[in-house]
Amino acid sequence: MIKINENFLKLEQSYLFSTIAKKVAAFQKENPDKKVIKLGIGDVTRPLPSVVIEAMKKAAEEQGSAETFRGYGPEQGYDFLREKIQKQDYFDRGIAIDIDEIFVSDGAKCDTGNIVDLFAEDNMVAITDPVYPVYRDTNLMSGRKKIIYMPSTAENHFNPDFPNEVPDIIYLCNPNNPTGTTMDREEVEKWVHYAKENKSIILYDSAYEAFVEDKNVPRSIFEIEGAKEVAIEFRSFSKTAGFTGMRCAYTIVPKQVKAYTEKGEAVFLNALWNRRQCTKFNGVSYIIQRGAEAIYSEEGQKQIQENIAYYKENAKIIREGLIKAGFTIYGGVDSPYIWLKVPEGLSSWEFFDELLEKANVVGTPGVGFGSCGEGYFRLTAFGTKENTIEAVKRIVEKYCQTR
Ligand code: MLT
Repeated sequence: MIKINENFLKLEQSYLFSTIAKKVAAFQKENPDKKVIKLGIGDVTRPLPSVVIEAMKKAAEEQGSAETFRGYGPEQGYDFLREKIQKQDYFDRGIAIDIDEIFVSDGAKCDTGNIVDLFAEDNMVAITDPVYPVYRDTNLMSGRKKIIYMPSTAENHFNPDFPNEVPDIIYLCNPNNPTGTTMDREEVEKWVHYAKENKSIILYDSAYEAFVEDKNVPRSIFEIEGAKEVAIEFRSFSKTAGFTGMRCAYTIVPKQVKAYTEKGEAVFLNALWNRRQCTKFNGVSYIIQRGAEAIYSEEGQKQIQENIAYYKENAKIIREGLIKAGFTIYGGVDSPYIWLKVPEGLSSWEFFDELLEKANVVGTPGVGFGSCGEGYFRLTAFGTKENTIEAVKRIVEKYCQTR
């Protein structure tokens, strides 16, 4: 008799963003004349930079000629891309990273999910509450039972204190998804010291680092001294370069970072991750990696900065509109996410339904990210500018005046 992995039965029946998509599709079916504006899932709307298109066209041509055709690529990513990452994302910002510490992949979602393969089932895991659901779900799927939820609320400025029990694995997301808030250098430093003291590891998701302007907020955990001994960093081209539909990201696994066997012997994780990737992953397509490489040219940098500025302007429009309408809001400055307090008396899901029905605007209920997200709601700045302006106008006019 075939048996299932019963850990899957511990998950919510549907993934948060699939639940929302189903609800929106049902509403749209019943109200075909309504123009629904989606500011729910953080999916980009700006087209790909033209440098990326040109690079991919060229790469596609190469794949059509016997002289330049490439089959399987390196599982870790092509050096032409890894060298650009090494120099421009790290070296030029004062961080030394070896090329074989960089692993190119098909997404930070996949990497933050897959990394759990390296760790024993009985590790204690600390995640913030609210949290990007992938961290929680992938640990549950792989049978980890000891999960500490660290409340991240307005009261602690969305920067949780150390938990009562010492975790082995600590997830930090900075700028934070979903709250859109940030941890400054001192706060990140605090966690690095804590991890060192306790032989824990920090899984640091910096998928939204391109939105950081505040000089006190590190764009990489490796800006912090000693972090290479205790942290793995996840980065993505999705939000930075419009790659949500292209799939390309990278993970830095420093050679110093280690975990321990039952007997207490140290094992370096770089070699383990390499081993895992070589077995389970065949690398990102050559064409996509050439597209990603193109953003590192001078023109590429200019084009992606324009897109980021566009989304940051949307965030400002949302922030200012909601403040005008009397909402209490957080985030949206060094981040594309705005986290708002729902009006008194409503739950996150009730506000979701009301907003969909009254303003035809879709957001994400805070409780979908964890119980401490109850009473909050997330809006994304990744819509088009026209839709963002329209959505804010509808929230201010129709929703607020009718309550
Ligand atoms: C989000 O909306 O939280 C993100 O789009 C999720 C993701 O990047 O997978």
